[in-house]
Amino acid sequence: MSTTEAGDLYLHPDRNLAMELVRATEAAAIRATPFIGKGDKNAADKAAVDAMRKFLGTVEFDGTVVIGEGEKDEAPMLFNGERVGTGTGPSCDIAVDPIDGTSLTAAGRQNALSMIAVSDRGSMLDASMVFYMEKLVGGPEAIGVVDIRKPIGENLRALAAATGREVGELRVAVLDRPRHAQLIEDIRAAGAGTRLLLDGDVAAGINAARYGSRIDLCVGTGGSPEGVATACAIKALGGLIQGRLAPKTDDEKQKGLDAGLQFDHVYEADELVRSDNTFFVATGVTDGALVQGVRRKGPIIRTESIVLRSRSGTVRFVTAEHLAQKWLDES
Ligand code: FBP
Repeated sequence: MSTTEAGDLYLHPDRNLAMELVRATEAAAIRATPFIGKGDKNAADKAAVDAMRKFLGTVEFDGTVVIGEGEKDEAPMLFNGERVGTGTGPSCDIAVDPIDGTSLTAAGRQNALSMIAVSDRGSMLDASMVFYMEKLVGGPEAIGVVDIRKPIGENLRALAAATGREVGELRVAVLDRPRHAQLIEDIRAAGAGTRLLLDGDVAAGINAARYGSRIDLCVGTGGSPEGVATACAIKALGGLIQGRLAPKTDDEKQKGLDAGLQFDHVYEADELVRSDNTFFVATGVTDGALVQGVRRKGPIIRTESIVLRSRSGTVRFVTAEHLAQKWLDES
């Protein structure tokens, strides 16, 4: 390897980083587990944040949290702008959601996971001042076929025609929210089936893009941070993601404009993350369609994680068995 190549590897996140990041999502998921179904989402989130931050501190990289738990004062840890990692190694943007699905966790429902996305420094869209984003996520077969600017019925008919299926066979994930009443009606009027989500549109977006999953598209308005994190995963899957910022108030919109964000603009994958070197890792907290939740069997704690890397286009599932006693010793 030439000196330049070696230097390049040092500056940019490389494949080894993915396995290091999994340790942090595993830790967050394990620490959140005692809070599953206990009704306290803040306690679950805090346990996951503390664990993720501790593990990230040992990872050899110079990470800046672009998408975190929020502004510094309200989020004492993993706040936007916080530096994480050892400070040596590649410079990266990092998006963290120690639990996507805090309410799911507190209620003891399915589909909560812990996730981290990483890309080259300066490449993630910082849309933290605008909470909501309208999204359209699908697999490679959706590229050039569907478009967020078009009515959902038209998109469903186009996707069905492009994939040789009936519209009635298509399954569309949507967050079950009053704001989506018309969208849900339109999906059903077109003949497709909805898969209504209580929470957690990151996992649903990834499932929509994965080959052979049980979801064909994920649509509707959810968190902007989740949109950027999902884009890191979609880049590894070769799928489609489009996002359009959806401010709730004039104040939010003005803050976005001041920060250079564009409204009435469709952000494509390459604008959500301006890098082809992205990583996405997630560990199940509770069981879900993407990964299984944390399980305790006697002396063993079992975790399941998914690891996506855009450079290689690989999807890996990592199952780990952890000695429960070690985690008790460290608490
Ligand atoms: P958190 O658990 O991190 O709060 O997010 C859950 C979530 O469902 C996201 O997956 C989704 O993007 C967002 O909240 C939707 O927001 P809202 O619940 O306000 O509709």
